[in-house]
Amino acid sequence: MTQISTATKAATPAQQKSAKPQRMANPEGVSPLAFVLEEHMLRGKDIIGIEQLSATEIHLILDVAAKLKAHKFDATQTLFAKGQTLTMLFEKPSLRTRVTFEAGMTQLGGHAINIETKLGERETIADVGKNLERWVDGIMARTFEHSTIEALAANANVPVINGLSDKEHPCQALADFQTLIEHKAKSGSLKGMKLAYVGDSNNVSNSLLLTAATLGVDFTIGCPHKYEPQASIWMKALELAKVSGATISLSNDPHVAVAGADAVYTDVWTSMGQEAESKEREKIFAPYQLNAALMKSAKPDAIVMHCLPAHRGLEITDEVIDSPNSVVFDQAENRLHAQKAILALVL
Ligand code: CP
Ligand code: NVA
Repeated sequence: MTQISTATKAATPAQQKSAKPQRMANPEGVSPLAFVLEEHMLRGKDIIGIEQLSATEIHLILDVAAKLKAHKFDATQTLFAKGQTLTMLFEKPSLRTRVTFEAGMTQLGGHAINIETKLGERETIADVGKNLERWVDGIMARTFEHSTIEALAANANVPVINGLSDKEHPCQALADFQTLIEHKAKSGSLKGMKLAYVGDSNNVSNSLLLTAATLGVDFTIGCPHKYEPQASIWMKALELAKVSGATISLSNDPHVAVAGADAVYTDVWTSMGQEAESKEREKIFAPYQLNAALMKSAKPDAIVMHCLPAHRGLEITDEVIDSPNSVVFDQAENRLHAQKAILALVL
């Protein structure tokens, strides 16, 4: 008769999940995060786009994000949204934005409510804003049209945060610059570094371009003709670059764009809502694939960035996204910290 053992096998070190520290009060009594409660520069403000943020405001968010990450088990964090509620409105699918906003609110002592809906169909966007402001402390929205987020902000007397629109993805860019600082800053500064973006000019590239131009980081976009950034964003970036000292440039040749870059970034060729164009886009963007040959044009220690989700084999190869220089999961992790910083500062 076969003996069935009920004893559980001891886990090998590789199988063991690391024990999780509990959130604890700072043993010294004064938390290195306590200043966040007194910081009112962004309190009550909307985060609609990078376009509306000053360099000082961006630096504040990045500084708080880094401190929240460094002190992630400090119980002071649970005071930053204590008893507060965030409504999350999603017109499009999400993994990272959905999970990091909800986990972020939980970690800050608050709560998040998720609603998947097409705004403006069941009732006007203005009425949605006027209802939500009576119940919750903040709204995060992922929408097709950027004007939907602007309409929510105009009609809700609580902070509205853009979780991606057709124009901007500010939370992504802030997490990405947190990642860039972690990997590429010299004496805490990104000045003089070059970020190259190859592929479609979209919400993600717009927010990266505006952040780089605001902070004085050199930025080059490599994209096909007719897929360049829209004129208003480009003009705004050039204006910001004059003040910050950033060099902003564009090339239709991906190798020229990537030449000498410290970081190379790509995103999907077909954004959510453009699915009908995907076959045509696959042909147009094929020369802009982020592969090993294109990475050779960048600095040898250049990091690889992607906001995810990635379409492996299209805009990026497995070899590049899985290479030791890839920081894509650091970017994903930093969505949590950057958004917690935003929530802690605006709610
Ligand atoms: N990068 C990003 O916004 O991912 P999700 O679409 O999964 O939220
Ligand atoms: N540009 C992509 C980003 C996804 C996070 C999109 O809008 O679908």
